[in-house]
Amino acid sequence: MRQVAIVGVGMTKFGKSEKTLIEMGAEAAMEAINDSNLKPKDIQALFVGCGASIVEENQTIIGGFLAEDLGIAGIPAPRVESACSSGSWAVALAAMTVAGGYFDIALAVGVERQTVLSTEFNTRMMASGVHSFYESPTGLSFPGVFGMATHLYAHKYGIPLGRLKDCLAKIAIKNHRNAAKNPKAQFQKEISMETYYNSIMVASPLQLYDCSPISDGGAAVVVTTADIAKKLVPKPVHLIGIGYSSSGSLCGQKDFTRVKARETSAKIAYNMAGITPKDIDVAELHDCFTMAEILAYEGLGFFEPGEGYKAVERGDTEIGGKIPCNPSGGLKAKGHPTGATGPAQVYEIVKQIRGECGPRQVEGAEIGITDTMGGSFAAIINLILKKGW
Ligand code: COA
Repeated sequence: MRQVAIVGVGMTKFGKSEKTLIEMGAEAAMEAINDSNLKPKDIQALFVGCGASIVEENQTIIGGFLAEDLGIAGIPAPRVESACSSGSWAVALAAMTVAGGYFDIALAVGVERQTVLSTEFNTRMMASGVHSFYESPTGLSFPGVFGMATHLYAHKYGIPLGRLKDCLAKIAIKNHRNAAKNPKAQFQKEISMETYYNSIMVASPLQLYDCSPISDGGAAVVVTTADIAKKLVPKPVHLIGIGYSSSGSLCGQKDFTRVKARETSAKIAYNMAGITPKDIDVAELHDCFTMAEILAYEGLGFFEPGEGYKAVERGDTEIGGKIPCNPSGGLKAKGHPTGATGPAQVYEIVKQIRGECGPRQVEGAEIGITDTMGGSFAAIINLILKKGW
């Protein structure tokens, strides 16, 4: 296999947009292509991560239309669907095809346009990520899944719910604080403990600020070999680990306070990279709900199972802490246009490693990890990136 490098990243501002899926995808793609000092004609394959183009715009084969918009019609351009991890799969597949020698330069784009749908419709559409025969009839949707996970976690580890809620509030406050330093984030304002507790209840015990929002946005990543990268850009970032795993229905998972698919995926990624969790300087992880951030700390091996909430109390995951998590603002406050989330996580880690993050910069970041989860703890991808110059 050839060593893979990332030479260009781009993303639109997340939030509500008047643009179409293809317009947002093209905007992010052109930023990434320009960043890599390439031209669209140099791209040999395009992978597009998008969970729901068919309901958002009654659109399939979005990859072909996006390639046409970029002036490169004719290249292979499949759409990749894996719920919220669709975009990370697009990056992983682009990297695998370059590593395997099928292509020298591939583009991964993630895009989603959720605000054209109502909150009710989005809730139902995203709930297609739970098993439609065994679980949907119960009325389960994602705020409910993570509300249950919060109660289970508190019960399993004997944590008073009030203490755990204070930790969730601290995660929301941290991620909003980080997003306020990120001009591409959906929410640009900090929140207080009071704002957090005064917000509406969504799925007990999760309130408004425990939830990622409904978002539009696109993000893109240009992947090539490390050898080509050296000639293109002064600061290539190497993709040194790719981990992946899946699990099935929620009812088939014994204990979803331990995300088995993430433990497997992270292990594969760390082994491939030849590193341990201690070597990670910065992480962008899947905080679709604040409780999910704690589960991700533990599944990625930063803290032992049942200890992640204490890390929040100590401030370990703040910028400047032991292991800064979600300096971009995370899904919680940067926004979560599902298909775009994975490439946007890669965008942030690449920018962090290049030292281009201004007031949210994690000093000395050289190795970072992304973590994206699709469905109910079901489809996990981890990507490990390292300074390559
Ligand atoms: N965090 C912070 N503020 C939010 C927010 C969020 N998640 N969602 C909405 N807001 C704000 C809006 O900006 C708006 O503020 P304004 O009045 O100052 O303009 C206000 O809250 C009302 O927005 P609205 O869109 O009417 O909220 P809603 O009640 O329809 O939706 C949620 C709120 C939490 C239900 C919705 O964001 C949601 O479903 N989130 C979860 C998405 C999800 O499940 N993703 C997949 C994860 S696996």
